[in-house]
Amino acid sequence: MSLLATTSIATIADYAGQTVTLSGWIHNKTEKGKLIFLMLRDGSAMIQCVVFKKNVSEACFAHAQQLTQESACRITGGVRADSRAPSGYELDVQDVEIVSITEDYPISPKEHGVEFLMEHRHLWVRSSKQHALLRIRAEVIAAAQEWLNAQGFIRFDTPILTATAAEGTTNLFGTDYFDLGRAYLAQTGQLYVESGMMSFGKVYCFGPTFRAEKSKTRRHLTEFWMIEPEVAFADHDDNLALQEQFVSAIVQRVLERRSEDLRVLERDLEPLKRIVPPFPRLSYDEAIELIRTKHHEVEGCLPIAWGEDFGAAHETLIAQQFDRPVFIERFPSAIKAFYMQPDPNRPEVALCADLLASEGYGEIIGGSQRIHDPVLLEARIREHGLSIEDYRWYLDLRRYGTVPHSGFGMGIERAVAWISGTRHIRETIPFPRQLYRLYP
Ligand code: 4AD
Ligand code: MG
Repeated sequence: MSLLATTSIATIADYAGQTVTLSGWIHNKTEKGKLIFLMLRDGSAMIQCVVFKKNVSEACFAHAQQLTQESACRITGGVRADSRAPSGYELDVQDVEIVSITEDYPISPKEHGVEFLMEHRHLWVRSSKQHALLRIRAEVIAAAQEWLNAQGFIRFDTPILTATAAEGTTNLFGTDYFDLGRAYLAQTGQLYVESGMMSFGKVYCFGPTFRAEKSKTRRHLTEFWMIEPEVAFADHDDNLALQEQFVSAIVQRVLERRSEDLRVLERDLEPLKRIVPPFPRLSYDEAIELIRTKHHEVEGCLPIAWGEDFGAAHETLIAQQFDRPVFIERFPSAIKAFYMQPDPNRPEVALCADLLASEGYGEIIGGSQRIHDPVLLEARIREHGLSIEDYRWYLDLRRYGTVPHSGFGMGIERAVAWISGTRHIRETIPFPRQLYRLYP
């Protein structure tokens, strides 16, 4: 009998008073003389199964005694409503079938160090908190895609092996590519998704992206997943409006559908309930001024000069002034990517924005209006020391039917860390890739 054919614990309420067979793993076991309590998890939820010696065969009781943490089994029993049980139900066991017995499971209910847990990441994903966190991740991904689909966006998949850089040349992962020389792992799908935008109007790409950053912060992965919408005939203001609706819709859906997981993670829900448009906006200049006057509020936060980029402490200081995510817009073009449209009133700044999450979780979105003029774009490519030949196809998008257009990229792990209240991004992806982590 497969998991598809047996009852899932999440739907147990539908079977009150009936006899069901559940397939799963032992999360926990306690024995009290003639009673054995088996906490069974099947991936959908957990239920306490009560084995009472006088109600079962000797063989069945012996099987229950043999079960250890993470042993696999099938349990048949009667579903009984019990207001004291966390799920509201318990199973009165009639039969226990052993599928496999686990010995010496490395992750016991006692506390383990995070290094140990990371080395056992392939097993750690079964633990309650990790399970809740990864369900929230799945919900964030589903919410993001379904919201865009409902708004008429088309998913347009972009390549991972690429010939050129899109977000600067200093953090590229390279690999040999047969007779064509070097290939690079995509830092973003953006340039290619712009081609889709010219075909479909509203598109997004979603996939893994790579940055060879020698950064050890709790916000950086070398491999992360990004969802990148791109819209034709959309300017900078349209872009920000889209972002605040998108982010709010995702947060509200997680609150609605994953409240149990948020509870397991002890996430404070009040700050999340406030995540509705509009989000406050601050210009880069205003942010610099805010840092100048308030930097003492955050330890290690020092004033910066115009033209410098923000560090984590600056982002924390800015974010803590607001009760919802905040846009910082119009950064100096010199510290941003080559494709960003200059502000017509002030060409030294770009029509771009970073969205900082509330509660100090840092940047979750980067986006901009794109340069649509072929002459200006070509000049920018040259200024950045990139080869025109490599970007010929990208320039074609400005040569044939060019329109003002805008888009953004949201890092899934950053968004999940924020929504779930997880300080370190490494737990928000099943197998994190970091400077010092490639195993498991
Ligand atoms: O700001 P970034 O670099 O923007 C782009 O890549 C644009 N091409 C997106 C676009 O306009 N289509 O990255 C976007 C987001 C960041 O805000 C952050 O959430 C995430 O991607 N991100 C990372 N997440 C984890 N680890 C890293 N090293 C990340 N770098 C960026
Ligand atoms: Mg950015």
